[in-house]
Amino acid sequence: MDQASLEKILSDLHLGPVRYLQTIGSTNEFAARWVSQGAPDLALVVADEQTAGRGRQGHRWYTQPGSALAISLILRSHLSPKESSIGRLTALGALAVSSTLYKLYGVDAKIKWPNDVLVNGRKICGVLVETYWLGDQVHASVLGIGVNVSHAAIPPVVDLTFPATSLEQVLDHPVERTHLLHEILAELLAWRDQLESDRFLQQWQKLLAFINEWVIVTSERNSPLEGRILGLRADGALQLLTRDAGQVAVKFGEVHLRPVDNHPE
Ligand code: BTN
Repeated sequence: MDQASLEKILSDLHLGPVRYLQTIGSTNEFAARWVSQGAPDLALVVADEQTAGRGRQGHRWYTQPGSALAISLILRSHLSPKESSIGRLTALGALAVSSTLYKLYGVDAKIKWPNDVLVNGRKICGVLVETYWLGDQVHASVLGIGVNVSHAAIPPVVDLTFPATSLEQVLDHPVERTHLLHEILAELLAWRDQLESDRFLQQWQKLLAFINEWVIVTSERNSPLEGRILGLRADGALQLLTRDAGQVAVKFGEVHLRPVDNHPE
């Protein structure tokens, strides 16, 4: 991967300017600076290595050289200040990756609401959207996507609920990163045009992990909520059927979801 080959391979997608960095702290942070300097819609940052990548809920996301896709796409159109639209941008990243893994390799990837992509219950990709405001208007959103391509991408810290995996582990053969990147971006651009459509919601719901299964949703603000996933509400909130409170919608935010072990039902 290098600047010239990336520009060539991605040229048919009509993105904004592309910046390839061999090593950077975080592509999302680089993109945020670029936004403040006037980066246009669909400007793209790609890094081979991240030394201080950002994850959700303040977590770190390290990217070892040559092992992963670490990208940030700057979005300046199709943006609405509605909370639901911002939630849909996270889904856009996860949906683009899941659909691409299926189309290219027949891999059954699922979206763990709101932002992870799982294969065989293991995390293969994380999405982090950071939005920049001017007053009450959205100035730009940075859509950051990290995909574990080879084994070296898997972090040493083990998340016991969702241990990580990589695409090469799943496929058992090497993967060409620039081709994968091209396909993910093509899928993302196609779905961006339909962001507010019912079709988008249906596709998102089709790819949802743990549908009809019992999960626990935790967040910093509320006490843990246990329920069976019914699907998505029109605004992208997760619809749960709880034992005590009937149907409850969980809004996009700082939430964490995990399956319930050995649920009696
Ligand atoms: C998560 O699962 O917590 C989200 C991880 C998002 C990681 C990607 S890698 C490219 C982009 N740059 C960052 O600093 N983070 C995102």
